[in-house]
Amino acid sequence: MTASKKDPGARVKVLREQIAHHRTKYYVDDAPEITDAEYDALERELRAIEAEHPELLAPDSSSLRVGGEPSEAFVNVRHRTPLLSLDNAYSEDDLRAWNERLTRAAGRSVDRYVVEPKIDGLSIALWYRNGLLERAVTRGDGIVGEDVTANVRTIRSIPPRLSSPAPFVEARGEIFMPRASFQALNEARRSSGEPPFANPRNAASGSLRLLDSGITASRKLDVFFYALAEIEGVFPPNTHTEGLARLEALGLRVNPLNAICRSYDEVMAGIEAIRGLRDQLDYEIDGAVVKADDLELQRHAGSTSKFPRWAVAYKYPAEQAQTRVLDIVVQVGRTGALTPVAELAPVALAGTTVSRATLHNEDEVARKDVRVGDTVVIEKAGEIIPQVMRVVVERRAKGAAKFSMPTVCPVCGSQAVREEGEVVTRCTGVSCPAKRREALLHFASRPGMDIQGLGDALVDQLLDKELVLDVADVYRLDAGTLAELSRMGKKSAENVVAEIAASKARPLHRLLFALGIRHVGERAARVLASSVGSVDALKNAAHESLEAIPEIGPKTAASVRTFFDQPRNRELIRRLTQAGVRTEAAEEELAPIRPLDSAFAGKTVVLTGTLPGVSREEAKARVEALGGRVSGSVSKKTDFLIAGDEPGAKMDRAMALGVRVVGPEEFARMTTATIPDRA
Ligand code: IVH
Repeated sequence: MTASKKDPGARVKVLREQIAHHRTKYYVDDAPEITDAEYDALERELRAIEAEHPELLAPDSSSLRVGGEPSEAFVNVRHRTPLLSLDNAYSEDDLRAWNERLTRAAGRSVDRYVVEPKIDGLSIALWYRNGLLERAVTRGDGIVGEDVTANVRTIRSIPPRLSSPAPFVEARGEIFMPRASFQALNEARRSSGEPPFANPRNAASGSLRLLDSGITASRKLDVFFYALAEIEGVFPPNTHTEGLARLEALGLRVNPLNAICRSYDEVMAGIEAIRGLRDQLDYEIDGAVVKADDLELQRHAGSTSKFPRWAVAYKYPAEQAQTRVLDIVVQVGRTGALTPVAELAPVALAGTTVSRATLHNEDEVARKDVRVGDTVVIEKAGEIIPQVMRVVVERRAKGAAKFSMPTVCPVCGSQAVREEGEVVTRCTGVSCPAKRREALLHFASRPGMDIQGLGDALVDQLLDKELVLDVADVYRLDAGTLAELSRMGKKSAENVVAEIAASKARPLHRLLFALGIRHVGERAARVLASSVGSVDALKNAAHESLEAIPEIGPKTAASVRTFFDQPRNRELIRRLTQAGVRTEAAEEELAPIRPLDSAFAGKTVVLTGTLPGVSREEAKARVEALGGRVSGSVSKKTDFLIAGDEPGAKMDRAMALGVRVVGPEEFARMTTATIPDRA
């Protein structure tokens, strides 16, 4: 009889102690005593006993880490003290000026600083009550954040219980996605047809805000803590470094590169030392943070409304390289969009070799005037995807021809057209192989029918051998046929067939998304499934009744109609139905969808000026995520003008037209409202 059968309670206790010990050794001390496999075995054993004896579950059980209850939405939580942002220094002059301001504000010279890597992730505040993790709150607007506790519990380096309990502890740190996890995640996304994340920060933030903590658990996030914001019941630390040491003693991971510096010159050397290590680190950093160490001095120096005076972020310049454009090729996507891509002479940049860079669209190529043979400057600014910044015109060869967008699709030869008011040129071919390929990948992608194993490599072979022509053919594949393809054993063929069979039962909204109807994204697919209820009803819905559905605009309504009016698509639906794919909404899907909780839903928004701490792309993404549309110019139809510092002429025009103007702080509040999916 095993120890756990005899006395499961005692075994659980031993296991928990062992796990806590090895967790600290691994994540905090960086000195593991056992292998990963041995550690996993301990966790598995504990989970197995807990599954059998739910009465033994404790609030910090690792069983509660993975999966758990999917949270419906994120609740807003007010921070105990505001999470301020950091002022930036871009040069030595900036840093010197900061040091002078600090010295003046402190009223004395500063003799101890701490220099830390500035981790490129997202900030998090963790509350531990009586040693147990109670809440994890994102930064939000600094005043109010989102409760992401369920997801944070899935991060292995965040202990559910501190090694020594205090009545209350608030620890602040940065959650990030290690480069290796980021690359693996993006590869998986590419092969399942999902769009890759642009950089590890976006990936981390997207992963933390998933409604399904089971998916967060698979995303391999990590954390470094950089501040002990509050500790009750014991004497408070006197210095920042003391706070960091306490964090470590509590079992919270602190960055090993943090360094104490005793003079301004040492600070500069510390910043350079971290910069030198930048490419070797397993995580992205975008600078170094310099802090005054003495907490009394920090209090004396105080803060402005946005930044503490006692700390500054020294930003490293984006890494750049020069290389030659070998060719400009044009790729074709699922919707037939033609994207020009620069093929580059391979060049090392920020730890990776770069050989391609997207040029986005025709206008973008024209604006930068990139030509084949040109020498270009490429840059990675915390982004993994390199951008062509500019052409070194002096090095252009005589006679280099301007790039022109092809007038026919490079894959199928059908006419390619750019419609009035659009930036994108599209292939008009109805059976373009490139479109077919992307359509199949989209159909099988995770937010679509989620058919694991049906990725790039398999889809290419299926198309080459003409085993499938469209998505309905997928349901006719059998294991025997698949097993004959290259890199496909019997076992993997059977797995794919099982995945295909399982996909037939996916909820209706996934099918609607997977069909790849233009303008029908995940959200619109849910709205349509819940209000229309079945593919049949949707097929026959009139344009007006579609447009009457909340959140469905005229463009989407027209696109749905166009899709179902094509006999080819009606036939496709008939074959999918015949194959046994679910085409009716399940009971739960019919529940009304809670409207987008946002002032921007369905509104037209224009941006002007700089918003502190928010880039133009980020601001645009936020508005779009909340259902708004960003337009370039102010007109009578504009609902909001978001005005940052130094607004341009758009401000005058908005005032003249009586358009509602929103300042940076109000914008921050408006964009931190949560977007629950269901009521
Ligand atoms: S200290 C009151 N230390 O950078 C200032 N922040 O741009 C508290 N960050 O919001 C922040 N690494 O999310 C601090 N070692 C570090 C950091 C760090 C990354 C982030 C943090 C902050 C942002 C400001």
